[in-house]
Amino acid sequence: MRDASPQTIYLKDYAPFGYVVEEVHLTFDLAPSATRVMSRIRFAPNPDAKDTAFFLHGENLSLISAKIDGDAVKPTLTDTGLTCDVPNVPFTWEAEVQIDPAANTALEGLYQSNGMYCTQCEAEGFRKITYYPDRPDVMSVFTVRINGPHPVLLSNGNPVASGDGWAEWHDPWPKPAYLFALVAGELVAHRDSFTTMEGRDVDLALYVRPGDEGKCAFGMQALKDSMKWDEDVYGRAYDLDVFNIVAVDDFNMGAMENKGLNIFNASAVLASPETSTDSNFERIEAIIAHEYFHNWTGNRITCRDWFQLCLKEGLTVFRDSQFTADMRSEPVKRISDVIVLRAHQFPEDQGPLAHPVRPESFQEINNFYTATVYEKGAEVIRMLKTLVGDAGYKKALDLYFDRHDGDAATIEDWLQVFEDATGRDLTQFKRWYSQAGTPRVAVTDSFEDGTYTLHFAQHTPPSAASPKPQAQVIPIAVGLLGPDGDEVLPTHVLELTDDSQSFSFPGLAAKPVPSILRGFSAPVVLDHTPDHAFLLAHDTDPFNRWEAARNLAKASLLGTIMQGTAPDTAWLDGVAGLLTDDALDPAYRGYVFAMPGQSQLAADLHEAGTTPDPDAIWASAEAHRKALAGHMADALPDLYARHQVDAPYAPDAGQAGQRALGNTVLSLLTLLDGGEAAQAQFDSATNMTQQLAALACLIRAGRGDAALAQFEAQWKHDRLVMDKWFGLQVIEADPDDAADTAKALTQHPDFNWKNPNRFRATLGTFSAHHAGFHAKDGSGYTLLADWLIKLDPVNPQTTARMCSAFQTWRRYDAIRQSMIGKELERIASTPNLSRDTTEMITRIREA
Ligand code: PHE
Ligand code: ZN
Repeated sequence: MRDASPQTIYLKDYAPFGYVVEEVHLTFDLAPSATRVMSRIRFAPNPDAKDTAFFLHGENLSLISAKIDGDAVKPTLTDTGLTCDVPNVPFTWEAEVQIDPAANTALEGLYQSNGMYCTQCEAEGFRKITYYPDRPDVMSVFTVRINGPHPVLLSNGNPVASGDGWAEWHDPWPKPAYLFALVAGELVAHRDSFTTMEGRDVDLALYVRPGDEGKCAFGMQALKDSMKWDEDVYGRAYDLDVFNIVAVDDFNMGAMENKGLNIFNASAVLASPETSTDSNFERIEAIIAHEYFHNWTGNRITCRDWFQLCLKEGLTVFRDSQFTADMRSEPVKRISDVIVLRAHQFPEDQGPLAHPVRPESFQEINNFYTATVYEKGAEVIRMLKTLVGDAGYKKALDLYFDRHDGDAATIEDWLQVFEDATGRDLTQFKRWYSQAGTPRVAVTDSFEDGTYTLHFAQHTPPSAASPKPQAQVIPIAVGLLGPDGDEVLPTHVLELTDDSQSFSFPGLAAKPVPSILRGFSAPVVLDHTPDHAFLLAHDTDPFNRWEAARNLAKASLLGTIMQGTAPDTAWLDGVAGLLTDDALDPAYRGYVFAMPGQSQLAADLHEAGTTPDPDAIWASAEAHRKALAGHMADALPDLYARHQVDAPYAPDAGQAGQRALGNTVLSLLTLLDGGEAAQAQFDSATNMTQQLAALACLIRAGRGDAALAQFEAQWKHDRLVMDKWFGLQVIEADPDDAADTAKALTQHPDFNWKNPNRFRATLGTFSAHHAGFHAKDGSGYTLLADWLIKLDPVNPQTTARMCSAFQTWRRYDAIRQSMIGKELERIASTPNLSRDTTEMITRIREA
């Protein structure tokens, strides 16, 4: 079912549904190709609605029968649902539909993954299960009966009763249909329990495929830690007798917060030391927390409509980042969040896909689960907290939960609680929700008679989404350092509200060095060239110290690319100094070495008016790695030896930091010893972090073949480890070989392209290989386009997400642009292209 001309939905057109749903009863008779779904729904006219049309969403459903108050009716069916004449008093709607889970490759609605049944309803998947007002502001209490021959039959809420071949569930909390879930299959449970601060005993279970039992313990602990943290920090307790998590192999996203029954991409929950890296563990802990935190921010308080998506996502990302900072290291978490923001959100905000944190229109809502809604949405809340202070934030959040529990709320509601709790006027701040684009903040300074003045000018580049941007409220955390490196003014938050503004600091003996945007206090680009080497040596703010190293690296990299200069000694000395400073957290030191990404350098060049040459960028990055290795040659062996962990493996921040630094050093060492140390580490590794890091080094050193074969033989049976094997070969390939490597991997018998994890591990990773994807001959573009065209009819959602690889195309030279333009045209003209992909390609082409 495809729409010829896709319809655009507007925020301004919001109107409530004409009926309220008092209760929902669903019965499922499971069968792979002919599942029957019986619904009994109590509707009543909605006194708040003007429009009384009775339209129920429904897609890919075969209607068997429909009744109103027990009498058969003949609804009018359309491509997207049905309409029917209904009484203007409360009535009972009953329908029976047939669906085909086995044929559902889009992984939306009810589908099968390795023989198990599971659902994904956010955002608009419930309409593929039965006829229903599938919109988040329609909330109801669900009772579900599942009939099927499977040992495990799960749905939302609390178990009511079960017997041989059936189970019944009841969820007492009214919820929108997007939070509905059902799972059935041969699964094994890893069980535990948690007692809430209110004294409720909650049975916890993590359901996995037989064979995966050994990968559950960490996820379960992360769940218990999250439950405790939300009680301690936000005062929020869990509200059902059971909390179930299910791991699924085929899943489009990371995980889903269905009420009481979270469904996870297996990669986002299953972990063991032998098969998962430290970063996998950290990501899993964060995603478990994220989905759990949605129980209050998303489920108990949900969104009125999908334009308000950031209401739950921005807030929940913010909450999970606070959790990770508390569990691990706050500065390291901040740095890694900013790396992600710059790598994913900035290009989106600065290109053809730019949209506000709260978009005002869309064609396919699945295309708006973006870095802007999630990550910039979290940054906006972080700024709000900075502006109102910790106490104000706490007061506002308590009021939010009090006032809106049970509501389908809006950004207006959210901002109102901050205004009411703190008395602050947020009219201008609201622009962060409505205006696209990354503000640029230029800084100059002056010093006269002991008074130091900072001058700021802000400017947001116009975009199609926001052609006339206005000044934002920008909290700028600033500290001042004296010429000797001592801090003369501790961190102080300035509030920028005008296009240009100055702030003075009197009573200073000498002109200070400013440390600006400490902790990355706002998601902006700073135009400022202070003495980076000085800040690297003296800044008390760990974020800005890291930023200074990054700025030195950036200047040096761009110098090599544009002027052919050698790597800058200030960078070499500065980074070497931090890498060997044992007073600093090893995890932090691991990040100090991380240079800006190559795609980001391309953006910087483009910004500076130079057409980026991907090969030159690659060569510059290589030259810098070599120069650093040479510069630190004497220190590396000892540094490596001192950052090996002898204790039994634990995925905690302390050990992970040691390994991260040790492996950073190993990658430098490999440039000097040709891979000898890496081979030794590979041969003796007893955990995946060490094994994979060594394998990466061996591939880079051109001696990875034997190790790759050995790794494959060892891990052939493990899907998640094999995803790493696919991805690593692509990302570590030389630019000239990357497309061939990726292409060869698509011929591998284990390249199960309908599995989103495997597809992304191979082609998603390829599009992240900057110089490989942008290979001069265009082979990279063709390869990706071929596969997007092939995947689209099978899984539009994953296809559309991966189109963003092309969003930066206008940065490149005319030849590359013309090659990409042709591929975009080829995709756009594919017959029956999905609405998801059509919207993405259209927006990208409009650049
Ligand atoms: N709501 C999920 C989350 O943020 C993401 C998701 C969206 C999952 C759409 C599946 C489909 O945790
Ligand atoms: Zn979420």
